[in-house]
Amino acid sequence: MTTRDVPRHVACVMDGNGRWAARRSLPRTSGHRAAETTVIEVIEAARSAGVEWLSLYAFSTENWRRPDTEVDFLMHLVRHVVRKHAPLLLARGIRCRFLGVTDSRIPPFLVRDFGDLTTLTGANRGMTLTVAFDHGGRGDIVEAARSLIRSGVAPEAVDEREFAAHLPFPDTPDVDLVIRTSGEQRISNFMLWQVAYAEWIFPQVLWPDFRATHFLECLRSYRGRDRRFGGITPNANGEPRP
Ligand code: IPE
Ligand code: IPE
Ligand code: MG
Repeated sequence: MTTRDVPRHVACVMDGNGRWAARRSLPRTSGHRAAETTVIEVIEAARSAGVEWLSLYAFSTENWRRPDTEVDFLMHLVRHVVRKHAPLLLARGIRCRFLGVTDSRIPPFLVRDFGDLTTLTGANRGMTLTVAFDHGGRGDIVEAARSLIRSGVAPEAVDEREFAAHLPFPDTPDVDLVIRTSGEQRISNFMLWQVAYAEWIFPQVLWPDFRATHFLECLRSYRGRDRRFGGITPNANGEPRP
């Protein structure tokens, strides 16, 4: 197995908005607002670099534990971002879709906006942008199990490929690179099935300060990784090829 120069699928855990604001003695919501610029820069940088799949973790199923005011702010902010940047996403040939979005607490206007952007960009083939919103990796796996059971498939017929076909957006390839900003080193229930063999990078920089240059630096670092997938890599010491 060889490593492609550019990761095919990059997934970002956009973390550190609250701390960005706290360092400036601002309310947490200012950090979320400042994240918009980063989101657009990263999308543009990924598209230009030739990344085929970009997934952004915007709101987890656990984020419902936050105060109502913050949750409400995030709902309106995401609406603003989705509507404002729809023409840009269309122009860049980016296909957009939303992973999760099952909780009835999500305002109907937002569900509509998500549907509108999905439809608007549905024929694009440049890059697939998956926004994980009200997403939880375990929840997706449980849903896949339910779907399998409903399908009546025989237990012996279930293998990894068959199981994965029941996950939401089953065309999604495995994640090659996960970037989690803010120095936190955990997965927080993000695309658990798809990150099984991902490479990980944990930049210290907080998401609102993360720029295209940081993203490109992550891609450079990825190029230096030796992905073995459990096998061995032939090396200069004359060890046998796998
Ligand atoms: C990430 O930033 C944004 C969301 C989870 C919606 P945080 O809000 O988690 O920022 P910190 O971790 O508190 O700094
Ligand atoms: C993960 O960040 C979720 C998103 C980035 C949307 P959190 O800040 O919510 O994760 P924890 O609480 O630090 O694990
Ligand atoms: Mg956080």
